[in-house]
Amino acid sequence: MSQSSPNTQSVAAFDMSGTRMLITGAAGGIGQATAKLCGQLGATIVLSDFVESSRLDEIANQIKGVVATERCDVTKRDAVEAMVKRHGPFTALADTAGVCPYDDDWMSPDWNETAFQKVIQVNVLGPINLARAVMPGMIERKYGRIALCGSIAGWAGGLRAGPHYAASKGGVHALVRWLAQRATPHNVTVNGVAPGPIETGMTATGGYDVSKYPMKRMGQPEEIASMLTYLCSPGAGFVAGAIMDVNGGTLLR
Ligand SMILES: NC(=O)c1ccc[n+]([C@@H]2O[C@H](COP(=O)([O-])OP(=O)(O)OC[C@H]3O[C@@H](n4cnc5c(N)ncnc54)[C@H](O)[C@@H]3O)[C@@H](O)[C@H]2O)c1
Repeated sequence: MSQSSPNTQSVAAFDMSGTRMLITGAAGGIGQATAKLCGQLGATIVLSDFVESSRLDEIANQIKGVVATERCDVTKRDAVEAMVKRHGPFTALADTAGVCPYDDDWMSPDWNETAFQKVIQVNVLGPINLARAVMPGMIERKYGRIALCGSIAGWAGGLRAGPHYAASKGGVHALVRWLAQRATPHNVTVNGVAPGPIETGMTATGGYDVSKYPMKRMGQPEEIASMLTYLCSPGAGFVAGAIMDVNGGTLLR
């Protein structure tokens, strides 16, 4: 079945063997879990992160379907474009690169505006750079899937995260819709996931109190990976401009 045709077949909907995918933030908890699942479902994957190349290669060795790795800072437009040129064309992008410094004492004279700039650059400019690099080709070829990481913080203002992180993730939610308005008419879907607290390196020092959450636990990276994978799969063809809440009922909207 062609990837651009309406998909009503339950198993084929999750067959990613025709998908060439870029996963950014791929050394992180959610990125690695997404790569594993997409690889198992047949995707051809390029793994990217800003960690040392040797670390990325180590991760790639344990994941099916990885054809290349690239150390790339998503805040650098030129580097992102060069990476996409080198390894594309891509039919799917899952951007899981992100930062979340736990410095929310914004009234303090020492509050660090450099951290603010960094969070906005990685969490908002990063997805803009990535979309700018992959979306025109997807539009030209009339097929594409883009999945970005928002957050429960983008709706609720943050459980533990600071004001820069909450603002950046609200920005991602708006950006998903901005991009979707432009991409959807060309059969390119742009969506986001808004995870609740997930057990990864990002939350390790956040001091999350799971007794406050309905499920009394953190989510697992695999539980976000399954949503990102779905959004990047042929089966998500009629999902456009959506932000999918995956938060264990911590926020009911
Ligand atoms: N863990 C959570 O509770 C949670 C909740 C809501 C949203 N999210 C979002 O999900 C995404 C993945 O988070 P995670 O929990 O896997 O975090 P993580 O810290 O495990 O992974 C994030 C990855 O992004 C990479 N990265 C940071 N700056 C980069 C840059 N400039 N260029 C390229 N890569 C860069 C890091 O090296 C890291 O490998 C992030 O966007 C995060 O904000 C996470």
